[in-house]
Amino acid sequence: MKKIMTALILMGMAASAVAQITEVPSNNGGVESLRGSAELNITRGADKHKRVIKDREPLQRNYVHQPPIIPHQVRGYKVNLNANKCLSCHGWKYARETGATKVSPTHFETRDGMTLSDVSPRRYFCMQCHVPQVDGKPLVGNDFKAVDSLTQN
Ligand code: HEC
Ligand code: HEC
Repeated sequence: MKKIMTALILMGMAASAVAQITEVPSNNGGVESLRGSAELNITRGADKHKRVIKDREPLQRNYVHQPPIIPHQVRGYKVNLNANKCLSCHGWKYARETGATKVSPTHFETRDGMTLSDVSPRRYFCMQCHVPQVDGKPLVGNDFKAVDSLTQN
């Protein structure tokens, strides 16, 4: 028994010595991002998916012309050549019935300021500008305050 223990301890020491030798020196130049440091030759594991808020009242806007943040889930909402799920609620035709905010008139304007009779191609892919919201911890502190004219309550 004693012999086996000694053998195990020796093996353990040998293993840790090997581990020390094979340890790669840091190759990222000591640069650390907000998400921590990562070696250049090692693929960093992906962060866990955040939980998107389910369904809420519209969220406060922080400045004029901010694209409002999406206060609901969007999983499975397709936007492609044949269909635009977002417009099936937010389009002017359906907004009253679905209770969704109408897309604003700017969404019908071309880049040259022409107003089209339907949503302009540059505003067709909604999630280029609008994003769903999660209750995430801010990466850095922020004491930004919205302008008075937009602050509710
Ligand atoms: C099933 C209907 C439905 C679909 C589909 C839908 N929405 Fe909504 N959306 C709503 C409703 C209802 C609200 C909340 C309106 C309210 O409470 O005033 C809302 C709110 C929003 C708001 C906030 C508006 C504001 O004034 O703050 C944005 C932005 C938005 N949705 C974008 C999208 C986008 C982008 C898609 C497609 C990926 C989408 N929605 C798909 C129904 C829908
Ligand atoms: C190129 C960026 C961009 C794209 C693409 C875009 N939006 Fe917007 N959206 C904005 C901005 C900026 C605002 C706020 C200022 C304004 O109304 O133009 C806005 C406002 C809105 C509002 C609030 C309107 C109001 O009266 O308060 C809704 C709802 C909305 N967008 C839905 C959509 C939907 C649905 C799509 C896809 C069909 C879409 N947006 C595509 C930039 C965009």
